[in-house]
Amino acid sequence: GQIWEFLRTEKRENGVAVVRLHRPDALNALSGPLMGELVSALRNMDNDPEVKAVVLTGSERAFAAGADIKEMKDKNYAEVYKTAMLEAWSEVSDIRKPIVAGVNGFALGGGCELAMMCDIIIAGENAVFGQPEIQLGTIPGAGGTQRLTRVVGKSLAMEMCLTGSRLDAHLAEKRGLVSRVVPTEQTVDEGIKVAEKIAQFSTPVIIAAKDCVNQSQELSLQQGLKYEKALFWSTFALSDRLEGMTAFKDKRKPNFTDE
Ligand code: CAA
Repeated sequence: GQIWEFLRTEKRENGVAVVRLHRPDALNALSGPLMGELVSALRNMDNDPEVKAVVLTGSERAFAAGADIKEMKDKNYAEVYKTAMLEAWSEVSDIRKPIVAGVNGFALGGGCELAMMCDIIIAGENAVFGQPEIQLGTIPGAGGTQRLTRVVGKSLAMEMCLTGSRLDAHLAEKRGLVSRVVPTEQTVDEGIKVAEKIAQFSTPVIIAAKDCVNQSQELSLQQGLKYEKALFWSTFALSDRLEGMTAFKDKRKPNFTDE
C-alpha cells in the first residue's frame, strides 16, 4: 500500500478498503495536506475495481475536530477566495462508491461536515457532533448549514450553528444524522460489516443506488422518481441484473461479475 503522512489505509479482502485519519497530535484536524491525501486515497479506491465500498474513520478520541484552525487563522479574504479554500473537500462527495463513516469522539465543524459527506454514518457511544464555527467568528464552510439542515431539520440545525451546541450519539441517531449507535470499540468493525454487506453486490448497481439516493437531495420528487426509473431500467443492460434474478429463481447465491 501507499505511504501517507496523515492517513492509514488498508485494503481488506471482500472488496472493502479502510481509511483512518491519522493526525493524533491535532485530533485529526483537517489541514490542507490531510485533505489532499484523503481525496487522493479515496479517488484511488474509487478507481480500484477490487474495492466496492470504503470505511472512513478516525481515532477513538476524534473522528476529526474540524478544519485546521491554526492553518486558517492568519489567512485574509483574498487568499481564501483566490485559493478557493475548502473547495477541494467537495471531491469527497464526488466519490461514486459508498463511504461508510465510523465516527468515534469529536466530529466537530469540518469533522461533522466530512462525516455528512459520507453515505452512512455509524456512531460510537462517545461520538459528539457539532458546528462550533460561530465560536470562532465564522460559519460552517463545508456543508454544515446545508447538509445538516436537510438531515436534522431547521430548528435543530439553527440551534447547532447559532450556539455551537453539540449532539451526542443518541440524539444524533434519534434525529437521523447517524444510522446506528454502537459501543465505541465496535464502531470500526460495524462499519466494516456494513461495507462488506454492500461489497457482495454488483459494483455498477451499488453506484447506481448511491447516485439515486443522493439525487433525492437535489431534485424535486417527480424529477427524482424519473431519475430513479431511468437508472432502474438501465440495470436491465447489466448481466448482473439477469444473474441476480436467475439466482433467485434457482434458489442459489448470485455470482456477480460487475458487468
Ligand atoms: N485545528 C487545529 N488544531 C486543533 C483543532 C483544530 N480544529 N482541534 C484540536 N486541535 C489541537 C489543539 O490545538 C491541541 O493542540 P496542542 O496540543 O498543540 O495545543 C490538540 O489538538 C488537542 O486538542 P485540545 O488540547 O484542545 O483537546 P481537548 O480535549 O481539551 O479539547 C476539543 C477537544 C473540544 C475538540 C477542542 O480541541 C476544540 O474545541 N477544537 C476545535 C473544534 C472546532 O472549533 N472545530 C471547528 C473548526 S472550523 C471549521 O471546521 C470550518 C469548516 O466549516 C470547515
